[in-house]
Formats: sequence, C-alpha cells, structure tokens
Amino acid sequence: MDEQDAQGFARGLTNYGDKDFSVYLRNSFAASMGYSREVLKKPIVGIANSFSGFNNCHRHFPELLEAVKRGVLLGGGLPIEFPTISLGEVFLSPTSLKFRNLMAMDTEEMIRAQPMDAVVLMGGCDKTVPAQLMGAASADLPAVQLVAGPMMTSRYGEERLGACTDCRRFWGKYRAGEVSAEQIDDIEGRLATTSGTCAVMGTASTMACIAETLGMSLPGTAAIPAVHADRLRAAEASGRAAAQMIGSPIRPSQIITEKSVENALRVLLALGGSTNAIIHLTAIAGRLGIKISLDRLNALSDDTPVLVNLKPVGAHYMEDFFFAGGVGAVLRELRPLLHLDTISVTGETLGDRLEQDPGYIDRRVIATAEAPLEPQGGLVALFGNLAPRGAILKRSAADKTLFEKEGRAVVFSSLEDLAARVDDPDLDITADDIMVLQNAGPKSASGMPEAGYLPIPKKLSAQGVKDMIRISDARMSGTAFGTIILHVAPEASTGGPLALVRNGDRIRLSVSGKRIELLVDEDELARRRSEWSSPLVPPEQRRGYDRLYASEVLQADEGCDFAFLQPIAES
Ligand code: FES
Ligand code: MG
Repeated sequence: MDEQDAQGFARGLTNYGDKDFSVYLRNSFAASMGYSREVLKKPIVGIANSFSGFNNCHRHFPELLEAVKRGVLLGGGLPIEFPTISLGEVFLSPTSLKFRNLMAMDTEEMIRAQPMDAVVLMGGCDKTVPAQLMGAASADLPAVQLVAGPMMTSRYGEERLGACTDCRRFWGKYRAGEVSAEQIDDIEGRLATTSGTCAVMGTASTMACIAETLGMSLPGTAAIPAVHADRLRAAEASGRAAAQMIGSPIRPSQIITEKSVENALRVLLALGGSTNAIIHLTAIAGRLGIKISLDRLNALSDDTPVLVNLKPVGAHYMEDFFFAGGVGAVLRELRPLLHLDTISVTGETLGDRLEQDPGYIDRRVIATAEAPLEPQGGLVALFGNLAPRGAILKRSAADKTLFEKEGRAVVFSSLEDLAARVDDPDLDITADDIMVLQNAGPKSASGMPEAGYLPIPKKLSAQGVKDMIRISDARMSGTAFGTIILHVAPEASTGGPLALVRNGDRIRLSVSGKRIELLVDEDELARRRSEWSSPLVPPEQRRGYDRLYASEVLQADEGCDFAFLQPIAES
C-alpha cells in the first residue's frame, strides 16, 4: 500500500486556519491511546462493530474482531474499532425494520465523521447488513462487508433443528395439538444453540449472499458458519483486503452498480431467498440512484431458476450450503445470465472469479441450471387494483394449488384486531377464504412488522389446514413459508386500496397473470374511499425518531428508506 494516499488521523480535519496545529492536536490525543509515532503514520482501517448484548447472532464478534485487526495489521494499516448501534432481530419493538435506517445513518455518519481511510463492516443479523451497506454506499469510502455467518443446526430426537423455520414448524404442530407443552418447552431450548445468524436461507443469509454477489464481501465468505475456523480466516482476509484497498481505492459506488444489482437480484431469485431482501436491495441500490422496478424483478424471475434446496423452501440448512459450494457454485450455474464485468472489493471481476476451480459441488443442495428445483425465480411481484404499486409473493414457499383462486375476504383491520379475533371459535372463516390484514405497512404504528405470516385460525389448523392465501401490507420473516402476499403498496394506512377491503368481498389471485384483484366495482370503492380516514397519528403529534420515521419513510417498492437519505438529483 502507498501510505502517501492515506491520511490516517489527519483525515477530515476541520481547518481553523492553522492546519499544522490541528494535525498536532489530533496526534497528541491519538498518542494518549498509546500509539507510537510510527503507528500514527499508518493508514487507518475503521472497523464498524455491531456487537451488542442484545444481539445473539453477533455473540462471537469479539473473537472475529481480533482476526479483522490482525488482517489490517498484515495489510499495513492501523485497525481502529468503533461501535455502531446493533439490531438484534427478535429483541426490538415494534419491529427491527423501523431501526434499519437509524443504523444506516449511524454507520454513514460515523464513517464520514471519524478519521479512517477504509472500513470493515461487521454485521450479520437481518437488518444489520443492509443498514451497513446503505450507510457505506452513501459515505462511499472503500468498505468491506464481513458477515457473522450462520448458526449450526441442533437436534431434537432424530430431527435436525435450525432457527427459525423449525421454530415455526414446531409451533404450528403445537397449535394443532400435535406437540405437547412439555415437548415445545424442550424444543425451545434446542432451536438456536450457537452464535451466528439463522440457520436457513432467511433474511440474514440472503443478505450475506447478496453482499457477496454485489462484490462488497470477499468471494466465498457469505456462507461460512459462524463457529468455523474459516470464518476467522475470512475475518482476517477482510481486514487485510480493506487495508490493501487504501492504496488504490475501490469505492462502493464502483462496486454497487446497475449490473451488480441485477446479478444480486438473479442470486436472490435462484436462492428462493427472503422477501425482505427485495426491500433491502432496493434501499441499498437507491442510495446510489439505482432503481429496482418490480416489473424488472418479474422479467428476471421469469428466466432465473431456483437452484438452492434450503429451508424454508427446501430441505437443507446453511451449513450444508457452505459445504455444498456456497455462493460461488450458484454463480457458476447462473453464469450465462450474469454480468461478468462487475468488480468486487478485491478488484477482481466476477468473470475472473468464475474462471477459478469450482471445487466440489454437492448436487443435493445446489442444483444445476439444466435440472433446477424450479424453472422460475422464487419471488414474483403481483399488480392489480388491490396493489397498484405492487406486492410480493414468495412463490417457491407457497402452495401451488392456491395460485389461481378466487375467495371471500376475511378482514382484520389491525394487528390488535388480528390478535383479538383470529382464534375466536365463532370467527366466520373457512379454508377457502382469503385472510386480509390492514394497517401494518411502513407508516403504520407498528412500522411494517413481520406480521404478514398471519396464523391459520386455530379451529382451521386443528382440522389440518396448513396454508391459506393471506394478504397484507406487512412483511414476513425470511424463515417463514406459505401463500402469503406481502408489501402491498401503497399501504392501507395511507389510503391504499387495501384499506377499502371489507368482509365478504371477493378477491382473485392469479400468480400466472401476476395479478391480485379486488372484485368490487369502482362506484362502491369510491363510496368507501369517501368514508375512509387515516388511522395514523400525524408526525407533528409524535416526537424524536418516531416523528422522523413517520414523516420520511418510503413505501415498500422504494425500499422503505427515508426520503431525505436519497441522493440529491443532479440539476
Ligand atoms: Fe439474527 Fe435470525 S435472529 S438472523
Ligand atoms: Mg428473520
């Protein structure tokens, strides 16, 4: 590395007229931390560490951090760790998504404000990687994403358990009376037993694969289990790569491009990845002025096969995906569909990467493009009078017998209404009905929680009903499955047509036609609209972050980013 290009502690100094004095002052305070004069001349690699006692997935970050620091030193840089907020998926209320943009702002501003020449981003749990990539894209300093890596699976009797698809599977059995209270108590203690992110192709793993495909992580690192020694080697290599980027900087804006975003969409579709990832990728790309249209998603989905046989869609777990060949194997299968001239943090093109020896590929886990699991991508966008700006269905995780269907709407007007009535034995509902949840979108009080996976009413699950069509403006956990239509835009609480659905209305779903229609005539809808009023508390009556969130959050098709964080259009 060329130390001339680095600015170390002198980077970003506010110059009050006597620059040398400012440098002298900075260095004297830096020296108070015990650095020698020689070390103070080194370029600095900041390490954005999202360790938190409230984030089980990042439990191993102290050990990983040591390896990153070692790599930075080997690369000729000075590693300096700094904390950012952390988002532990299950410990945040009302929902982690509400805080993704806050973490992105924290990450962006601390990269910008503090003296560093490059940065390693340590994240993993669902919202942390998108938050870090959004922040890094806006700050546009050379950056390497290091992910936590997935948890290992556990056992219950003869069954493998992995958070959190199996959490839901067993809970469904418990609700149906197939598993006892003692058994579910035992299972609770066995579902998540190591550090790392959820063990299936949920949001965290999908985003790790997307970060690698974009080129923001080192090749081959997305799927390494959290507790595997290779994860420590990946951490060391990430630190080293960040230090080495300083001499000839490669910026996120050179890596995250229209082409690499399209490659990432292909991989998302081939993974049968999380629905949340479409929101996150839209937000990350949006930071660099790259738009993802849902029509484009559908066009890519039409000719991108599902290749990866992982839960929640398939049979296996992330550790199997790692040993099967990981993201590299998927990229090789998709090669004819990919842009090969995109670059990664290493400076290498995707084409160069795919020239290298593919090694062993386990075909039980990663199918060939010639004999895929599904001929079309895992996600599809639906449009129609119920979702003028689109909705998302994870068709690879849905029941195909429900794909062309008309049914009667059973409407829940809020999360509270759902909780109060869904298990009521007197609820007027059958398996052929379509469950609708309103007012759970991005601007709602709940901030678009993972509530789109509406529970099957107890009286129906006791009859053996496993899936029904469910529609909402909410999200769904990446580890969940079912015929679940999500992210309806515009959302109900801002007056989207979803707000106008009433009990007994007919709704028609056509996955082949990519349509979701409310079969109510225009006059009646106009009458309902004239009677509608927003349930939202206006921003002026809120305070703090909640107020900022309420006034700035964009709809799902725009990635739920804040309007003011979008790049300023060039005039
Ligand atoms: Fe962190 Fe699932 S809870 S990835
Ligand atoms: Mg999740």
